Amino acid sequence: MIKKCLFPAAGYGTRFLPATKAMPKEMLPIANKPLIQYGVEEAIEAGCDTMAIVTGRGKRAIEDHFDISYELEHQINGTNKEQSLAGIRTIMQTCRFSYTRQLEMKGLGHAIHTAQTLIGNEPFCVILADDLCVNAPGMGVLRQMVDLYAKYQCCIVAIEEVALAEVHQYGVICGQEIANGVYQVSDMVEKPKSEEAPSNLAVIGRYILTPDIFEVLKNTPPGKNNEIQITDALLQQAQSKLVLAYKFQGKRYDCGNMHGFVQATNDFYHLYAQSH
Ligand code: UTP
Repeated sequence: MIKKCLFPAAGYGTRFLPATKAMPKEMLPIANKPLIQYGVEEAIEAGCDTMAIVTGRGKRAIEDHFDISYELEHQINGTNKEQSLAGIRTIMQTCRFSYTRQLEMKGLGHAIHTAQTLIGNEPFCVILADDLCVNAPGMGVLRQMVDLYAKYQCCIVAIEEVALAEVHQYGVICGQEIANGVYQVSDMVEKPKSEEAPSNLAVIGRYILTPDIFEVLKNTPPGKNNEIQITDALLQQAQSKLVLAYKFQGKRYDCGNMHGFVQATNDFYHLYAQSH
């Protein structure tokens, strides 16, 4: 039903410097797979076949990753090493990739607006690849959200409960629970101080957006940190339309910081070690 998934991937990744000086944060590997590939797999599982990626300077490795490497193919042709490329080959056969560049990094809302030419006039998913989400096969977080979209046909953000001491790192929602784990958003604040937060329900890097969000984003002024915030655009949307927040099933690793990245690496390695 929703065919396109957007990956805003133009950010500087300053929390991971110097690793991200010449390499995109989205290409950091958890075990042997880059973060963005996990995201693309989740999008495919949710039914998407077109990946729209917003890149910026220094991000060419992302495009190369989802392209054929003739030299490498030639080198490993007929050897058992081909097995290591099976996953990425399937991805390349399953879906299309399109790219656009964000010229100035003016925030997540601005990055999403930049992708309007790739998305057009249809609902779309958004994955922030540094939020790595896992759940049972076939029941990924985006899959759950697409199922919810089928029922409500409106913008949906994924949320999880975080400690009050951490709310300043997130967009935070307030709303009424209208079904189990489903909230109708009435307020949304970007990176509030803990004493000003409307709740401890934090928005994580999974969204479903309807295309009217582009018009809202076009008129959204810079907000917190002087960046154009998707949170501000969604709040405006929530004032006239239904916007939902969904407490997803599964586990999220915030791989944009060292702690979450190492935790994910340890957990994924543990799984790998068990199966080998
Ligand atoms: P983050 O807040 O994680 O920023 O952006 P960042 O630059 O990636 O990382 P730090 O905080 O400096 O370490 C959330 C998502 O929005 C994208 C990022 O690539 C990331 O996926 N983004 C952010 C853009 O594409 N463009 C922007 O202007 C800002």
